[in-house]
Amino acid sequence: MKLYKNLVDSELLAEIRTAFDRIKDEIGFDNRHYIDYHDQYLMATFKSIIDNPEFSDIVCEGEHNDQALLMERAIFSVDGAWGTLTEINSPEKQQPWIADVVKKIHQTMSPLGNIINHPIDLMFVRVHLPSDLHVDKLFEPAEHDEGYTIIMPLTFSPSIKTVSWSQEFASRRAVEEWKHATVRGNPTKTTTGVPPGIDLRHCVIGDKFLPDYLEHVQHSDWEEGAVIVFERQRIHCSSNFRNHLPFKDYVLIHSQDGRYAD
Ligand SMILES: [Fe+2]
Repeated sequence: MKLYKNLVDSELLAEIRTAFDRIKDEIGFDNRHYIDYHDQYLMATFKSIIDNPEFSDIVCEGEHNDQALLMERAIFSVDGAWGTLTEINSPEKQQPWIADVVKKIHQTMSPLGNIINHPIDLMFVRVHLPSDLHVDKLFEPAEHDEGYTIIMPLTFSPSIKTVSWSQEFASRRAVEEWKHATVRGNPTKTTTGVPPGIDLRHCVIGDKFLPDYLEHVQHSDWEEGAVIVFERQRIHCSSNFRNHLPFKDYVLIHSQDGRYAD
């Protein structure tokens, strides 16, 4: 995991922030993910959060009473060579001011070098719950989702960290299988530990704190103007920010060979 400090100047950051709010207000974030309370496995993952009275407000944020809103976002496909929008899945997204800010974000990323010279998916994301351990890959192994995750924070708080480990997985399914094996088996803990002050309560399943079984932990703070970069196949999660903030916003880029579809 690499942190590029002071990559985004405050003027551009303010412009991106304005575009973020405008996309959300005028066009809407059309891609939403929920935690379904009937999904026993997911609920086990998030039980420690949802059972905590601090988080009781999330329960009714879903479209249905038995869902909690995890994430909402607007996704744009971008030509990695030119920073131009290549695919718009709704006419409302065909706005010159969006194309303009997307191009500026892409240009700002030029110090990252070759890793954005591929088709990229650029997303404006609001996350309402911390993400547990996962990889930014499709559920099944796919040849076109090799690449990098690039995070440009738009919400700043010491409670927000991105945490990663050295283990890599070819698919989301492989991570889920690792979790099952770790929860049900009797694996040996690694000596890595998690640095103090990073709240990862949402990474508990049953009696297992899953980061205890991963190696070489790294973390990045969410700093103004900074950009966080890591390989999509690397296992990672966010810190639990919910006892400080109701949600966090960021620009997320997935570089790739092909189209990201979840
Ligand atoms: Fe991720």
